[in-house]
Amino acid sequence: MKGRELVYIPLSQSVCVLTLKSMTKEKPKSIQVHLNGRDHLEFSEDQGKSQFRFIGCHELNQFLTNYRQHHGDNIKSWPLPEGLSHSELLLKELLLKIKGQWNFPYQADELCHCRCVPTAIVDQAILAGAHTPEAVSRWTSASTACGTCRSDVEKMINYRLGLKDKVKA
Ligand code: FES
Repeated sequence: MKGRELVYIPLSQSVCVLTLKSMTKEKPKSIQVHLNGRDHLEFSEDQGKSQFRFIGCHELNQFLTNYRQHHGDNIKSWPLPEGLSHSELLLKELLLKIKGQWNFPYQADELCHCRCVPTAIVDQAILAGAHTPEAVSRWTSASTACGTCRSDVEKMINYRLGLKDKVKA
């Protein structure tokens, strides 16, 4: 696929040993995060092996390659990114999910009932760069009628961007 690359990063031997011990009691797990049609990150553990792989745009590729160079092969020890690019937001989501600390503030499938806008559409818009309620409204039509869903849109933006209730690494 032109402009996209698939990169596999095997984790360190010590992590594999730790994982093997824990895997004797746990089912194989796979954690995936994505920006639709653009970027996909996946962490998996199975049969004592941990693997992190991703496919996506050039920016994501560069960002993850640099992050690995700075923080090593063990993705479980990587610090949470603090920037607001889609690459950083996606990696932060993946790392929090690996740690079991992902507490997304809105759980229902549909966020805006007036415009029938799914929560996932709003979240994808935030990931892609709609970082204000106004931008989310322009991109998705959410919050363009009665306005009662606006506070939930704000909660989602704040959570994604770490503006409130900042999650500890
Ligand atoms: S519920 Fe979103 S505008 Fe009314």
